Amino acid sequence: MKHVARRAVHCATAVAVVCLIGTMMMAVGRAQGAADTPALTDTTFKNVMLLKGIPVDTFLDAMGMFANAMGNDCTYCHASDAALNRDAFAVATPRIQRARQMIVMMNAINKSYFAGQPRVTCFTCHGGNQSPRSDPNLALQYSTPPEDPNVRDFPTDPTGNVDQIFDRYLQAVGGAARLAALKSFTAKGTYEGFDTLFAKVPVDIYAQAPNRYNTTVHMSSGDSVRVYNGTGGWMAGPDTAIPLLTLSSGNLDRARLEALVAFPTGLKQAFPQWRVGRAVMNDQEVRVVQASENGQPVVNLYFDESGLLVRLVRWTLTPVGFVPTQIDYSDFKDVAGVKIPFVRKVSQTYMQMTVELSDVQPNTNIDAARFARPAPAKPAV
Ligand code: HEC
Ligand code: HEC
Repeated sequence: MKHVARRAVHCATAVAVVCLIGTMMMAVGRAQGAADTPALTDTTFKNVMLLKGIPVDTFLDAMGMFANAMGNDCTYCHASDAALNRDAFAVATPRIQRARQMIVMMNAINKSYFAGQPRVTCFTCHGGNQSPRSDPNLALQYSTPPEDPNVRDFPTDPTGNVDQIFDRYLQAVGGAARLAALKSFTAKGTYEGFDTLFAKVPVDIYAQAPNRYNTTVHMSSGDSVRVYNGTGGWMAGPDTAIPLLTLSSGNLDRARLEALVAFPTGLKQAFPQWRVGRAVMNDQEVRVVQASENGQPVVNLYFDESGLLVRLVRWTLTPVGFVPTQIDYSDFKDVAGVKIPFVRKVSQTYMQMTVELSDVQPNTNIDAARFARPAPAKPAV
């Protein structure tokens, strides 16, 4: 019961976040980074005192971590008129000041006791609650704790074989020969997300092997273009924080992985080392394979019993800890003998979206310009 109630609250706050992100985007519409250097907080925002010198996409993940940890939306800390007044995000409310103290406290704990590792985060204490619980919870002690398949520290299954899992996956998708024959595809469908207030709008997809991907969302306020070109990734549209948002670190790598999933032959090569575990997702047992970077786990891939990839989680390291992006794949259908997920749902701490394909054309000629850096979006009015 409690969970249902809480979910309802989350849905309500989700809508609030939409408006807020939209306004914020107008607010910061003036600043922009040069060429492909991601725009940084210092040059983009007005009143950032601690989270300086970080790319805007990483900053949004950090803000999302705050909202998630407090179990609330952006206006829990930001002025309530942030939805209407573009400059209100820079207003130092008492909770903003309190949150700044918390950042300092958290950094001190990690520095003093965890060798500077981001071990204690806002979520460690708050866990979705404005007031962290201090007293022991007997109900929790004597019940089965809920399992989160997205954890980064699952136990390694020594019987798991990474090569076998990837081989089985490629087989389930259609086999090496059919995969090699699929060089590109274009698709039409619908998009719904925070930024459309969950209204369905048309979307076009352009994908080219081995790793180029364009999602063009036709929003009522203009096109939102998201591109990965094999090395760089961008977002430009009425919904983006700045006219051209250059993806960096974990977000850029997530765009790379999403493009690779469209042509999965090269997915295993995305990281040199993987380990295997087990998890339960939607009451089904799944195999998890995880890749690390600089000794830290950064990606989990989830394969269902038929061998298909049903979830991808990529973490971005922010100054306030690791923040996940989860991508769920479902509704697999045959296109030129290759099983393509017709539904892709992306969940982030500050945003959620679903793309549903309706018409997929294999091996079409795609204009190379589709994979170029998009033009900066016109500032929203
Ligand atoms: C727990 C409190 C908290 C929550 C929740 C929160 N923020 Fe913030 N926000 C802050 C703090 C603190 C700063 C200032 C950071 C600093 O000084 O380094 C800030 C700064 C900002 C700024 C920079 C404003 C400027 O021009 O200086 C933006 C934009 C922003 N937040 C957006 C968001 C969005 C969007 C959300 C919801 C997804 C959000 N915030 C949720 C605490 C919060
Ligand atoms: C070591 C535990 C711990 C960590 C880590 C922590 N907090 Fe807190 N936080 C608390 C406690 C305890 C309170 C007091 C809650 C109360 O008064 O009921 C609090 C209060 C707050 C409040 C004021 C809430 C109110 O009632 O107005 C904000 C905002 C907040 N924290 C944000 C953050 C953010 C953002 C982070 C991460 C940068 C963070 N906290 C990390 C323990 C923590």
